[in-house]
Amino acid sequence: QTFLGLAVLSSLVVSMSILDGNTISDTSITNVLKTEFGAITAEYSWKWPRIQSTQGVFDFNASDSVLNWAVANGKLIRGHTLVWHQNIPQWVDAVTDKPTLTSIIQTHINVVVGRYRGKVYAWDVVNEVFEEDGNFRNSVFYRVLQEDFIDIAFRAARAADPAAKLYIGEYNLDYAGPKIDALLALVSRLQARGVPIDGIGSQSHLTLGNTAAVPAQLQRLALTNLDIAVTELDIRIPKSVDATKLAAQQTAYASVTRACLSIPKCVGITVWGVSDRYSWVDTTLPAFDSPLAWDDDYRKKAAYNGIEYAL
Ligand code: XIL
Repeated sequence: QTFLGLAVLSSLVVSMSILDGNTISDTSITNVLKTEFGAITAEYSWKWPRIQSTQGVFDFNASDSVLNWAVANGKLIRGHTLVWHQNIPQWVDAVTDKPTLTSIIQTHINVVVGRYRGKVYAWDVVNEVFEEDGNFRNSVFYRVLQEDFIDIAFRAARAADPAAKLYIGEYNLDYAGPKIDALLALVSRLQARGVPIDGIGSQSHLTLGNTAAVPAQLQRLALTNLDIAVTELDIRIPKSVDATKLAAQQTAYASVTRACLSIPKCVGITVWGVSDRYSWVDTTLPAFDSPLAWDDDYRKKAAYNGIEYAL
């Protein structure tokens, strides 16, 4: 089977996109997913607040529907994400002691990863642990457990599904600076401690005009000898959008795609959505627009050709 012009090889997932409650019932989206993409990621419904908003009460309605769609349509699925500071429920945020938080992390991961054992080819186990200056983010996880929360999460995930590839995910690894340095130093420590980590996910939420350093940074990540994946690619355009910027966006998409393909350890590219109509950029980063490869009316943009021709 081919997606965006290239076969999905066993070790290389060339194209993935996100799906969720809002898009799963939009056939204009799902039809594109069926024909153009080899794997999917849930945009929100696999995250902690959706699955365990109350301690011990697990709700898999939304996450199961995404999983079932993937299975029914022969797509791989990437699990996203287990330990992330954003929208963490208050009952987790309020914990102050190590044993309690350790057990909460282990239980969440055992239950969620265990439920989908054998069905998820890769998990984003921990997500966005660093600030831009390279310090650890002041989440409940780091406040209570310091760096140990990362070891605890990876070990729990490996135990719950030994076959899944386990990733750390981060954004703004796209240029040189303290953040990527800190991530690489952390990965060395994890490797030295024998923590079961298989990959680094570079989210690659990019801004048009600021993509030149991406290939070199992906190469740095690959030097860890872990798998590397571009996990949330989009390239947002500073408003207002015009034909010149859309053409430049095509070139930027092509260059990121080629960068991954040229690195043997770079095993996957996920775009963070299909149509601009549903992009998170509209609400979260309103000064920007038009980040994806299909426009608001589901028409292929020049960006699509950037990916397709690069493949
Ligand atoms: C975003 C989703 O796109 C939004 O719909 C949601 O409200 C918040 O999360 N980095 C990540 C993703 O790892 O999970 C985020 O997704 C975008 C930034």
